[in-house]
Amino acid sequence: MTDQTTTAPTQTEERDYDEYRVIEDLGGWVRSHTCSQLTAANLGEEVTLMGWVQFRRDHGGLIFIDLRDREGLTQTVFSPEGTPEAVIAHERAHAIRIEYVVALRGLVSRRPEGMQNPNMHTGEIEVVVREWKLLNTSDTPPFPIEDRVDAAEMLRLKYRYLDLRRPRLARNLILRNKAAQSVRRYLDGLGFLEIETPVLTKSTPEGARDFLVPSRLTQGAFFALPQSPQIFKQLLMVAGLDRYFQIVKCFRDEDLRADRQPEFTQIDIEMSFPDENQVMAMAEGLIRTLFKETIKAELPAAFPRMTYTQAMDEYGVDKPDVRFGLTLVDVKDIFAGGGFKVFAAAPCLKAMRVPGGLDLSRKEIDEYTEFVKIYGAQGLAWIKVKDGEWQSPIVKFFSDDEKAKLAERLGMVPGDIVFFQAAPADVTNASLGNLRLKLGERFGLIDEEAFAPLWVTDFPLLEYDAEDKRWVAKHHPFTSPQPGQMDTIATDPGGALARAYDLVLNGSEIGGGSIRIHTPTAQKAMFTALGITDEEAEEKFGFLIEALKFGAPPHGGIAFGLDRIIMLLTGAKSIRDVIAFPKTQKAACLMTDAPNVVAKKQLRELGIQLRETAQGNQTEDKKVEA
Ligand code: AMO
Ligand code: AMP
Repeated sequence: MTDQTTTAPTQTEERDYDEYRVIEDLGGWVRSHTCSQLTAANLGEEVTLMGWVQFRRDHGGLIFIDLRDREGLTQTVFSPEGTPEAVIAHERAHAIRIEYVVALRGLVSRRPEGMQNPNMHTGEIEVVVREWKLLNTSDTPPFPIEDRVDAAEMLRLKYRYLDLRRPRLARNLILRNKAAQSVRRYLDGLGFLEIETPVLTKSTPEGARDFLVPSRLTQGAFFALPQSPQIFKQLLMVAGLDRYFQIVKCFRDEDLRADRQPEFTQIDIEMSFPDENQVMAMAEGLIRTLFKETIKAELPAAFPRMTYTQAMDEYGVDKPDVRFGLTLVDVKDIFAGGGFKVFAAAPCLKAMRVPGGLDLSRKEIDEYTEFVKIYGAQGLAWIKVKDGEWQSPIVKFFSDDEKAKLAERLGMVPGDIVFFQAAPADVTNASLGNLRLKLGERFGLIDEEAFAPLWVTDFPLLEYDAEDKRWVAKHHPFTSPQPGQMDTIATDPGGALARAYDLVLNGSEIGGGSIRIHTPTAQKAMFTALGITDEEAEEKFGFLIEALKFGAPPHGGIAFGLDRIIMLLTGAKSIRDVIAFPKTQKAACLMTDAPNVVAKKQLRELGIQLRETAQGNQTEDKKVEA
């Protein structure tokens, strides 16, 4: 009964009923229930409901209105018979259109036999309206307000406040609130203090580009919006506040993806005197409680752990989805110096056996070959295992010995397909690691109901940035090396391991943290290893090094991506579906039209003059669809 949104045309609608479209005051009316509350238990009660008109239909005299609020829907009915008051209410109801805001008073009644809707919480009842008020009219919305909506996302983002009326999006925000409150209760219970840190601040190196805010009072100088409150939370530990948390906006000017926004929310946490295990235990408790209190999901009592090396070796990525197998196997030694040049010369050669893959069509294999090119792959070799026979464009290059070793190492059986990637390690890992995810879906190997948390530990402290030709911190430069590895930084930068840990859930990195460096000497050594000069370190982080000189306690923490957690809790495919007012892939807000060009006067006050090209870009950008 509630699955249509447009008002069916009726004869009566030829009249406009404009005279009834007079907006009224609440006039003392008080809402008695939300639109999801009433059930058979309320039969016979006089109720007052307020909300939006989801749907109106005229039925041989009776007029039905489905009334919606954020909680749900209630069917209401206007009858042309009854008290004089009710008759007038019915006549005036002809003027009601979708998305009008109305207040209704009436009697909770049982729906006639056959008209009940067991799929709806309020499906047994309807409210027979005695009087009603028109609180506001509405233009016809640019798209229907319903979950099946297929309107373009651009249009929905422009009218975000209408899109948010859809039950699915409203539910996501309701759940997001529940999650935030659960986090607060849990951390408060453990003595963590919720403390706010500045938004107008100095650059924090989390690896992305900063958003800058020009200072008017210090012309030529800029604030940076925080990529995270990392330094401030460490300073709170130096301050002796012992345990801190914050549900906080972070800003990163980076290329956006399905699970990235330029401003996003962290559950940011720091504690004094912990080791890795204490932070991880606290974090596990937080996530377990959160999942239980929001969606009643039971996560395992202790989350499994995997080293970064094992994750890269077997899954090709540092955030493995361990809900299914299809692990990668190193086969380089088997083909070293062999007859197939692509394999023999490969810096890294891995194989992935896919049971049941014999069914894959040529077209699908071609698609996968195109797919891995995104990750820099040159091609994608494969072998199909039929009964007693291998089908493949490459087996003709293999010796019998190579074939036997391969079959044994992979445990190849009829029905399999095996994919190979021969390339530098990063390309091999990324292409097979991501192909693995695609194949997991293709073969239905992923249990969509399951939650598989995983700690990834023992990350390298540094990684080489080939573009900038220098070592950079894999997490951030405040992360402590593992015991005894401070010297390794100078001698073997790539070999040093960090006291860092990431929490991965179903292949999504939902959090990351570390034990920090807490002495000025170690922090300076770290900056040196990163090629940051003393002057630069002083200029950028002098205040931190200074603070570490005044009895900084050992400390560590973690930050979770709240948006990503809500995505997992709700099953949302896009991060935009869990944020009230998100930005597009081009980091624009289509509703407010931000970012926008500002007046020359405003720029003058800031001491800013735009380059010709920047002015040109601005007008160009306005033309481009976000
Ligand atoms: P990190 O940079 O790993 O660590 O961030 C922590 C978590 O934040 C989430 N996240 C994002 N979510 C949405 N959009 C983005 N652009 C985005 N970037 C990151 C991820 C990630 O795991 N200060 C450190 C934490 C610490 O060391 O305590 C930090 O910010 O889920
Ligand atoms: P070629 O000898 O280049 O025709 O390649 C023979 C087969 O090996 C084709 O199926 C290619 O897709 C595949 N191939 C080529 N380069 C690579 C590579 N670097 N890794 C894996 N397979 C490859």
